[in-house]
Amino acid sequence: MLVNVCGCKLQLIQGDITEQHVDAIVNAANSQLAGGSGVDGAIHAAGGPGIMNDTAARYPEGCPTGSAVASSAGNLSAKFVFHAVGPIWRGGKEGEPALLQTAYRKCLQLAVQHDCKTIAFPAISAGAYGYPLDLAANVAVKTVTDFQKWHKKPPEVRFVLFTEGTYGAFARSLEIQMEVQ
Ligand code: APR
Repeated sequence: MLVNVCGCKLQLIQGDITEQHVDAIVNAANSQLAGGSGVDGAIHAAGGPGIMNDTAARYPEGCPTGSAVASSAGNLSAKFVFHAVGPIWRGGKEGEPALLQTAYRKCLQLAVQHDCKTIAFPAISAGAYGYPLDLAANVAVKTVTDFQKWHKKPPEVRFVLFTEGTYGAFARSLEIQMEVQ
């Protein structure tokens, strides 16, 4: 699914984010930047140890929840990995939507700052961190479309969704949000 948001592309695809040829690949990291399973494990496995060496040297304190930091991309076909730390879902009353929004927004700001034309996001927080999928999709899609409308950048954003169910949730969310514009 591909839509135009004020001259920018927003694309949903089902696939593996480590196989994307983009300027920046976003990782769903933890605040220690310690690596883990899910997309984090896949990115470090495909990218090699250079990514962890770089984050450990540059961000020994890790990264707060609701933010993101940039590293090199090792063997991935990208210039950068942005390590975004989404919130753990604790029922929705602990600021989770705002933290998820700022994690996405920080990645978009990093993309602009590093002059990235293309950036690929996974469904941050929607796996091990337990954020309900439909709610996570709504925050993700709204944050990206609002940013593209306002800044007219990045020129191409891709959501790379690993499963059919995740793709479906993002597609529904995008359809609804394009209708209400
Ligand atoms: N490409 C794209 N998406 C993927 C891939 C992949 N190769 N592998 C997994 N995913 C998807 C999952 O299906 C899920 O929809 O990424 C989404 C996010 O799930 P997690 O990776 O579990 O991320 P999150 O929920 O943010 O939890 C972060 O998990 O592994 C740890 O270190 C990580 O502690 C952190 C936590």
